[in-house]
Parts: sequence; structure tokens; C-alpha cells
Amino acid sequence: MSDFLTLDTLPVSGKKVLLRADLNVPMKDGTVTDTARLTRLLPTLRDLAQKGAKIIILSHFGRPDGQKNTKYSLRPIAAALETLWGQKISFAEDCVGPVAGAAIESLSAGQILVLENTRFYAGEEANDPAFAAQLAALGDVYVNDAFSAAHRAHASTEGLAHLLPCAAGRLMQTELTALEKALTHPQHPVMALVGGSKISTKLDLLENLVAKVDLLVLGGGMANTFLAARGVKVGKSLHEKDMLETARAIETRAAIRHCRIVLPQDAVVATVLESNIPTETVSVTEIPENSMMLDIGPESVKEIAALLQTCQTVVWNGPLGAFEFPPFDQSTTAVAQSVARLSEQGKLLSVAGGGDTVAALSHAGVMEKFGYVSTAGGAFLEWLEGKTLPGVAALSCAKGTACKKSA
Ligand code: 3PG
Repeated sequence: MSDFLTLDTLPVSGKKVLLRADLNVPMKDGTVTDTARLTRLLPTLRDLAQKGAKIIILSHFGRPDGQKNTKYSLRPIAAALETLWGQKISFAEDCVGPVAGAAIESLSAGQILVLENTRFYAGEEANDPAFAAQLAALGDVYVNDAFSAAHRAHASTEGLAHLLPCAAGRLMQTELTALEKALTHPQHPVMALVGGSKISTKLDLLENLVAKVDLLVLGGGMANTFLAARGVKVGKSLHEKDMLETARAIETRAAIRHCRIVLPQDAVVATVLESNIPTETVSVTEIPENSMMLDIGPESVKEIAALLQTCQTVVWNGPLGAFEFPPFDQSTTAVAQSVARLSEQGKLLSVAGGGDTVAALSHAGVMEKFGYVSTAGGAFLEWLEGKTLPGVAALSCAKGTACKKSA
């Protein structure tokens, strides 16, 4: 585990705890449409409430660019959290200053208050020390439970850790434990399953993974670019012509690091991307000129299922086909089910993350069966890229005591 305190050791009883959560949840017409991030926050809330902490939640929502904008108010999200929590949760219309201060003064031990969106202040994203100090003045200790925002070096995700005694919350702790088991200290062989449309957006991730995993299985549009780089004619399939050299360089690096890159052998093709249109399944060497590969085929799925049986660990990011358009969801669902089965049998440690991936696994009905599904999108990708996440690094730097930033 990373080198920082958790709620097991940071004293919080009777203290004003500034809890950085990630309440940046999907909303439609003022209603939260996916409460996963809120539900996953409950263990930390329970822990802090049982210990008699006064819980002050800080979070961003959306990208209001440093301006107050009711469209990005956390009020409806605080209400959704209150429903899940089952007891009153207060809300203050500002995250600093007298309004926030007065709301905090009226809190009793074990009670929860949500402060308004930290991104209503430009100082949040700028990680302005003066803004971080204003936030710090509101509490006694800082708990960061926002792994999914830990790739942002903002005042509430990074700056605060230098100003107050700090610890990781339960969700942050769980995320890091799972992710470290999957890639920092994994049981080999390790498979990385990577899909998604473009390699240009996942270059750092691919470079990092080939150095760490034994098998890199590629699907989605990015597999087409690798196929094209191997000289396969991919017809009208989405692929990046300017990335062929890069794909070859990644293949070379993989060979040096003894990482096997597995590309699809067969393809489900169609002439347009639409749901429920006629499709054809062909070998990747026979993709018609006017067709696009929109999913990997059944032979490829069989091969992945067989390879999974030989692995101890799998890390998954990105769907293998255009899963939002059935029947191009079939390979993603079938592979997800194989991973789920092996995970349930205790034969495979499986970790998945990233926006589309979570939607695809949820579509496949296997979310609960995976070893761990991260709540993070961008932070999960940056972690797969091998980057240090500023929010995590700041927690580590002084093992719970506020640590000064080096000048
Ligand atoms: C996320 O949803 O990935 C995090 O909350 C970060 O949001 P951001 O990309 O707006 O910084």
C-alpha cells in the first residue's frame, strides 16, 4: 500500500474533517442518473460518523471555470447523497468564507455538511495557496477520498494535504489497494485488455503497459491501427494512418519486454455503424474494402477466453467493439463474462476502470462479479500510464502530517 495514513490511524473524533469526495456524477434534468460514486463514499461517511467527526464534504462538479453557476450547484447531488445516507445532510451555498463557516459551526459530531462546488473559485483549479488556506481554515484535518479526481493538482485535491494533518478515506484506500495489486505488485501472468477507438489517446498507457504485462490484448478501433501497421487491409475500419509507425514502435518495445501483443483474428463487419444492421463475420485478412470492423469476432473471443485461463491478473480499459450498437456489443459482453466467471472462481484478479469500460461492464451485467471496478475515469487512465497522481502523492509526502511543498 502507498505510504500514507488511513482512517485507522488519523485521529478524527470530535474534529472538523474536510472530506474531499468526488461528487462529480452524471446528471440529467437535475437528477443524478448514476449514484455509484455516492454509494462508494458511504463506508468513509460511516467510519467518520461513528468516530464522532464533523464531516464537511468538499467536491467539484462539472467545469464551471471559476465562476458561480447554479447549473453546476452541488445542491441536488447533496440531496441524492442524503437519500442514500438515510439521515439529514446539510448544504452550504459557499465553500469558503462566512456562509461555510456558519454552517460548520452548527454541525454536531457525526453530522454531514456538503459545501458548494469548489470550482466556483478560480483558486481551486489554479491550486492557489491563498484559496487552499481559506479551505484549510474551515477544518482540523483533511481526508481525501476522491481517487477519481486525484489526477488533478487542485487546491482541494492536492493543496490541502500540505496544510492539514491528512489521510486517505476508505474509497481511496480501496482503489489504491486494488490497483497496486493489479499492476504494481501483480501475480503474473498479467493480461491487459485495452480497447477504445484511438491509440493516439492511449499512447502513454500502451507504452507503460508493454513494460509491465505479459499479454496485451487489443480490441476496438485501436486494434485496426495495429493490424494496418502489420500490413493488413482494414477496409473502411476506423484507424489512424498517421500512427502506423508508432504502432510498430510499440510492437518492437513489447517484443523487447517479452510482452505478447494479441490482435483480433476475425472481425464482425458492416458498411455503416448502426444498431441491428446486417453484419458479416470474416477473417481480419478478408475485410471487404467498403466495410468496417465494428467488433472483434467469435474466434478472437475464444482465443482471449483461452488466454485468460492462463493468467492470474487482468486489467481492463476500453470496450472491444462498438458496444453501444448491438450486435457489436457481443465480444465485450462475452469476454466480460469470462473474466467475471474466473474472478468468481478465485482464479483471476480482475480490475477494470474508465468511463466507457464501466458502462460496457454494466451493460454486460458483470459489475459485481469483477474483482474491482474503479470509480475513476481520467485518474484510472493516468494510473495505467504509470503517472504519479498528485492527489495521491500529496497524501504520501508526510505520512499524515501536513507537509510543506518544496519551493
Ligand atoms: C472525473 O469525473 O473523472 C473527475 O471527477 C475529474 O473531473 P474533471 O475531468 O472535470 O477534472
